[in-house]
Amino acid sequence: MPLPQTMKAARVTHYGGPDAVVIAERPLPQPGPGEVLVQVRAAPVTAGDARMRSGKVPRGFGLLMRLALGWSRPRNPPGWAFAGVDPASGQRVFGIAGIRGGAHAEYLAVRAEQVMPLPDGLSFEEGAAFFFGGLTAAEYLIDKCRLQAGERLLINGATGAVGSAALQIARHLGATVTAVASASNHALAQRLGAAEVIDYRSQKIGGRFDVVLDVIGTLRAPQSHLAPGGRLGLISGDMAATLGALLRPRVFAGPSGEGRAKMERLIALYTAGAYRPVLGQCLPFAELAQAHAIAETFHKPGNLVVVM
Ligand SMILES: NC(=O)c1ccc[n+]([C@@H]2O[C@H](COP(=O)([O-])OP(=O)(O)OC[C@H]3O[C@@H](n4cnc5c(N)ncnc54)[C@H](OP(=O)(O)O)[C@@H]3O)[C@@H](O)[C@H]2O)c1
Repeated sequence: MPLPQTMKAARVTHYGGPDAVVIAERPLPQPGPGEVLVQVRAAPVTAGDARMRSGKVPRGFGLLMRLALGWSRPRNPPGWAFAGVDPASGQRVFGIAGIRGGAHAEYLAVRAEQVMPLPDGLSFEEGAAFFFGGLTAAEYLIDKCRLQAGERLLINGATGAVGSAALQIARHLGATVTAVASASNHALAQRLGAAEVIDYRSQKIGGRFDVVLDVIGTLRAPQSHLAPGGRLGLISGDMAATLGALLRPRVFAGPSGEGRAKMERLIALYTAGAYRPVLGQCLPFAELAQAHAIAETFHKPGNLVVVM
C-alpha cells in the first residue's frame, strides 16, 4: 500500500495542562540509518508522558528534567512505546521509541533494535501497553531487589501500569504480595494474585516485608516496613531519596533501563504465562488530551492506550 505524505502527530507546545498536547498534520518521518518506519496502531499514555508534558516531576528533579528534555517545552515529540504494522512487510510489531519519543503519531521512525514482532496472542492495544510498566517492574523486582520465592512483598501503588505488572511478576517469582491501592481497585489486585489488599485511604500497613516496592512514592518512612535484611525499591523517589539510595546497599531508586535484552526478558515472561499487560481505558487518538488528563491523576487501573 502506498504511504501517505502526511500524518497526524502530537506535539507538546509548552509545559502545562493536558491542552498543551496538540495533534497536527506533519510530514511522514523518514527513517535514518538503522531505523524502520512503523505505522502506529496504538500507543500508551503513561504517568511518564503526563510528567514530561506538565513538567511536574518528583521533588528536586525539575531543573535536571528541563536541562535534559527542553527548557520551555519537551524538545522530543511525545509517545514512548507503540504497537503497529511494519508497512514494508505487513508484520505486526511492537516496541519502544524511548526518550526520543514520537509514538503519539500515525507513523514513527524508530531504531530497528527497539522493534519486535508482536506475539499473536496480543492485540495492538495490549502490545502498546506491554513495555512501560512491565520493564520497570521486572528490573526493580528481579535485578535490583532480587525478590525470591517465599518472600513477602509490599507494593504501594499496586494496580496502575507499573504495579499491575509488578504484582504478576512477583507471583510468578513465588512471592506473597500485599497490594496497596484504593478499594475500587482491590478486585483487580486480587485477580492478579494479591494475598492481602490495603486501602491507603482508610487502612494502615501492618507487618514487615522482605521487599517493599514504593511505586507511587507516597509511603512515609518506607524503611519502617522492612524485615531485617529487607530491600526497598523507590520507583518514584525524589532527589533526596534517589541520592540516599546510592549510599544504602539495599535501597534502589532511579530510572529503569530499556535495552533489547530487557525487552526480550519481558516477552519471555509473557510467553511463560507470568505477565500480561492489564488494559484499562482505550481512547481514540483524537482524545489524546483527555488521555493525558486521566494519566496525570495517578489513579488509572492498568494501562491507558490511545488507538490510531
Ligand atoms: N523509575 C522509573 O523508571 C519509572 C518508570 C515508570 C514509572 N515511574 C513512576 O512510577 C509511578 C507510577 O507509575 P504508573 O504508571 O504505575 O502510575 P499509574 O498507572 O497512575 O498507577 C498509580 C497507582 O498508584 C496508586 N495510588 C495513587 N495514589 C496513591 C496513594 N496515595 N497511596 C498508594 N497508592 C496510590 C493507584 O491506585 P488507585 O488508582 O486505586 O488510587 C495506582 O495503583 C509514577 O510516578 C511514574 O512516574 C517510574
